Amino acid sequence: MSKAPDAPPDARAPVTVRRLAEMKRAGEPIVMVTAYDYPSAQVAEVADVDVVLVGDSAANTVLGYESTIPISLDEMLMLAKAARRGLRTPLLVGDLPFGSYQSSDKQAVKSATRFVKEAGCAAVKIEIAGVSGRLSDKRESVGRARAIVAAGMPVMGHVGLTPQSSAALGGYRAQGRTAREAVQVADDALALQEAGCFAIVFEAIPNRVTEAIMERMEIPVIGIGAGDATDGQVLVFHDLLGIYEGHVPRFAKRYASVKQAMVEGVRAYAAEVRERRFPADEHTYGIAPEELERFREVISPGKAWDIADAMS
Ligand code: KIV
Repeated sequence: MSKAPDAPPDARAPVTVRRLAEMKRAGEPIVMVTAYDYPSAQVAEVADVDVVLVGDSAANTVLGYESTIPISLDEMLMLAKAARRGLRTPLLVGDLPFGSYQSSDKQAVKSATRFVKEAGCAAVKIEIAGVSGRLSDKRESVGRARAIVAAGMPVMGHVGLTPQSSAALGGYRAQGRTAREAVQVADDALALQEAGCFAIVFEAIPNRVTEAIMERMEIPVIGIGAGDATDGQVLVFHDLLGIYEGHVPRFAKRYASVKQAMVEGVRAYAAEVRERRFPADEHTYGIAPEELERFREVISPGKAWDIADAMS
């Protein structure tokens, strides 16, 4: 039976981990974006993205911290819960913040469980420790990913530029630009894949290095500043819409200038208030003339105020 012409479009089925694997197999690009609250999640929903990440980039973009280090698990959970309320279709991933998984497998599982149980996330993301040459640290974060997977929660890995370790990486700089560093990135990606991650983010890696590593990747790879060879792309909501004016990396393409539009809107409002042009009649409520007359009598200056009389 054909649908009526004005019937609403078919609702998309919720995106699952399995669906992302199918998309990789079919060569269908995966679209991921960050969101941190109800309105940004609703935008992602309506724009038909596949994966929403409540990224710890919220530390900079939403909470105004200088780096991602200070944001707490409780702050992340509050944002993830708000994003959850705005979403139906995209897969929701919560980003484990610095300090919420480093201590032990037990701590990592506990933090991941809070994202899933309290915030309704379908999965969590974990950054590999980024200290060049310190493989033991990296193996620990791989172990954390493995422990969360073993506890029954899907994990997305993150390699290359991992902002939580930016101090150890020598700042926010691209990774894998020497053969030694590229081997390290590849080794990290393969270790997280082997640990059972369902997908992995490649951040700030030369395109040609990504291309070479992709030959060994069986799980979906989502790139940010990693070129076009990945299975999908992710951008930070505030970067792509031009809401945030802090450090914007070269890979963050801007598709709109929302902050400018917001400033213009608030300026216009402020001007109209100052010039007494807002509110106009259409923004106010009416009252029947006889009711107004009665009210005016009650409150007329110099008259004794008798609330019981007025209400009778
Ligand atoms: O926190 C974040 O926004 C991220 C993305 C850049 C992948 O980790």
